[in-house]
Formats: sequence, C-alpha cells, structure tokens
Amino acid sequence: MIGKKMTDALNLQMNREFFNARLYLSMAGYFESLNMPGAAQWMMAQSQEETGHAMRLYGHLRERGARIMVSALDAPPETWDNPLAAFEAAYEHESKVSREFDEHYALAQDEKDNATIIFLQWFITEQVEEESSVDEIIQKLKMAGEHRGSLFMLDRMLGERTAG
Ligand SMILES: [Fe+2]
Ligand SMILES: [Fe+2]
Repeated sequence: MIGKKMTDALNLQMNREFFNARLYLSMAGYFESLNMPGAAQWMMAQSQEETGHAMRLYGHLRERGARIMVSALDAPPETWDNPLAAFEAAYEHESKVSREFDEHYALAQDEKDNATIIFLQWFITEQVEEESSVDEIIQKLKMAGEHRGSLFMLDRMLGERTAG
C-alpha cells in the first residue's frame, strides 16, 4: 500500500506531466506559425512523450491501489520571442521538472517506499536525457543565428524525430 503523501505527490506529478504535454503542444503550434514544420514535429513528439510520462504515473498509482485524481490545468504560454527563446524556455522547464522528481525521490526515501524509489529511477534517467537533448538544440540554434539556410537545415533535422 502506498502512503497518502506519496499518493498526493505522484498525482500532482501526473497532472504536471499533462501540463507539460500541453506546453509542448503550444510550442508546436508556435513553430507551425513560424513555418518551421520540423521544429513543430519535434515539439509534437515531445508532447506525446509527456502524455506517456503522465500515463506511467497513472499506471504506478493504479498498480499500488492509490486513488487517481485528474485535476484542472493552467493554460500554457501561447508564444515566444523566437525559436531560441522557445527552446530555452523548454530547457528551463525541464530543469524544473528534474528538481520535481528529485523531491519525489527524497520523499519516497523518507517514506521507505522502495517500489516508488525504483519506479522513479526511470524518470531521473529520462530527465538527464531530456535536458541534454534540448541543450544540444539550443547550441545548434545559437550557431545558426539569423542564417536562414542553417535554420532551414536545422528545422529539417528536428523534423526527423518521431515519438517514443
Ligand atoms: Fe515529463
Ligand atoms: Fe519532459
């Protein structure tokens, strides 16, 4: 049986992951408006992964016999100053999410909830990968600068990403 505090924390994180999915969907829409279909595709794939994260949390709560609580979500931002600003916002956001999972991990340790400790390890590894892949794109965007040809090539490269 899972404790009340841990249940609340994982429900909160499940809802945050649903928010994350909508944040990246909003970024996808922003890139569509810039005529950058590759970056839009990347954000769409990212959005689908975030829904997958939420459902992973749902699955753990279900398996542990916890009450699953789906809550209201804030609206994500609708626009950013430029492509670089959007990816920088994504990086900031992912850094925040990494700290959130560190907090859940610490709670699971306090609660001696070994099943949740093991469950959360996947997310901790995933966050390292997410931060690093977004940072890589930021560095490429900085190199491309205002050069339209480089941005076009970068957009094509981003479009090669598929979900999962
Ligand atoms: Fe996530
Ligand atoms: Fe993420």
